[in-house]
Amino acid sequence: MSTPAIIGSGNIGSALARLFARAGLEVGIANTRGPESITSLGSGVHALTLEEALESDVIFMAIPFGAVEQFGKSRPDWTGKTVIDTTNAHYAPGSADILRGRLSSQYAAEKLPGAEVVKAFNQLPANTLAAELDPGQGRRVIFIATDSPAAGDRIASLVGDLGLAAVQLGRIDEGGRLIQAPNALVLRNLIEQPLH
Ligand SMILES: NC(=O)c1ccc[n+]([C@@H]2O[C@H](COP(=O)([O-])OP(=O)(O)OC[C@H]3O[C@@H](n4cnc5c(N)ncnc54)[C@H](OP(=O)(O)O)[C@@H]3O)[C@@H](O)[C@H]2O)c1
Repeated sequence: MSTPAIIGSGNIGSALARLFARAGLEVGIANTRGPESITSLGSGVHALTLEEALESDVIFMAIPFGAVEQFGKSRPDWTGKTVIDTTNAHYAPGSADILRGRLSSQYAAEKLPGAEVVKAFNQLPANTLAAELDPGQGRRVIFIATDSPAAGDRIASLVGDLGLAAVQLGRIDEGGRLIQAPNALVLRNLIEQPLH
């Protein structure tokens, strides 16, 4: 796996960068304004241009839902890319008219033709996601849904490397529905307890 890249340096992008920094893992981060606009988020977090970030095989899409269509046009073909969809349509203006019954990650997959889309890291507030747990408290649960089992396994492994507990929910139209805001697993800050 190439060094992952986070696209979007706002609340959720910065929270993700902090998780990588804390785990001692390298990550790139980019936004629309360029690397000079990104303040230091820890050693190993590299501010990139959008073009550089788009070269990564694993891309965290940490942008507003309303920007997904335009973002999808940044590449003609997303084959070979795993895109982690952190967006929530529920809070975005006009989303019902955009979705017309589709789940938000189904919509994202349409706009990113060829990508393996993994829905994850969308269901907790950014500050909760990045909050450190005391040692021994357990690992924060991150739910994952995707139509690509191989991509699900890769992102679950990365979640583990970040010190978090991956829970795979299956396909986007199955378990993924549960982590689409405002459904049952959204805003559930679950901790996997260590077994004794
Ligand atoms: N905030 C939360 O607690 C939270 C929690 C879970 C999920 N989410 C979801 O995460 C997504 C991001 O939320 P946020 O609160 O982090 O938003 P935010 O603070 O407004 O940050 C959005 C980032 O996206 C970048 N961006 C916008 N359009 C782009 C494009 N076309 N290409 C590349 N980058 C683009 C912006 O770049 P510039 O900096 O250059 O403007 C900015 O860095 C949303 O879909 C939201 O629903 C948010």
